[in-house]
Amino acid sequence: ETKPRTPVLWLHGLECTCCTESFIRSAHPLVQDVVLSMISLDYDDTLMAAAGHQAEAILEEIRERYRGNYILAVEGNPPLAQDGMSCIIAGRPFLDQLEEVAADCKAVIAWGSCASWGCVQAARPNPTRATPVHEVIRDKPVIKVPGCPPIAEVMTGVITYMLAFDRLPPLDRQGRPLMFYGQRIHDKCYRRPHFDAGQFVESWDDEGARKGYCLYKMGCKGPTTYNACSTVRWNDGVSFPIQSGHGCIGCSERDFWDKDSFYDHV
Ligand code: SF4
Ligand code: SF4
Ligand code: F3S
Repeated sequence: ETKPRTPVLWLHGLECTCCTESFIRSAHPLVQDVVLSMISLDYDDTLMAAAGHQAEAILEEIRERYRGNYILAVEGNPPLAQDGMSCIIAGRPFLDQLEEVAADCKAVIAWGSCASWGCVQAARPNPTRATPVHEVIRDKPVIKVPGCPPIAEVMTGVITYMLAFDRLPPLDRQGRPLMFYGQRIHDKCYRRPHFDAGQFVESWDDEGARKGYCLYKMGCKGPTTYNACSTVRWNDGVSFPIQSGHGCIGCSERDFWDKDSFYDHV
């Protein structure tokens, strides 16, 4: 309680803003506690009151004052084609802003599948060359928190860990926090007994669907998707895609938009 709050600069590249939408719905911890008591969210062009020159001045001031001590959170990614002209922030390519702010940060959090993997804007043929953050920022630790979007409590959980222990959370080989991405959806799915018993939904609205059978034959990617949806769930633990009757599309996995796509498969 006596420690100064850690400054967080939250940048937005090519993205849809739903990572922020998810973040502001965190219930444990409550997002207002995170923003008002735990971190100092000094720059976030979606959530901040300031705009224009005033906003950019804050960015500059925090970078100067907290050199090496602030966290850079990135939602979205930089497009590299045509000198980055597909994403312009304050009159400059987003790539410039990203590299500048990353140069003095302590660590980078890559929010969501856009920042972690590229996501739908990087789908073949990727006309803007949308590029994941770790391929551009190579001299800082990059913590990937994938998902489209990530679960709110996973986002605030990662921040809470970093503030409480003053270190990065243990990561897997792909740079994802093990505590949330150490298991597959399939490992803890409540429909798993039906999978093991060979009871599958064969078509939408069939008898198996009404009985809540396994969605594997409908293209569910739970067996190859690392995320916390089947344990933490969404909307304060209420549900997750499979519980709503739709298979997992693997939204936290690399290339989910191109590779064996759920929608191609069905
Ligand atoms: Fe939106 Fe998904 Fe990108 Fe997050 S990861 S900004 S939810 S497209
Ligand atoms: Fe696995 Fe998907 Fe079936 Fe759940 S619904 S048991 S995640 S294949
Ligand atoms: Fe995404 Fe699959 Fe979870 S689609 S939200 S990783 S259940």
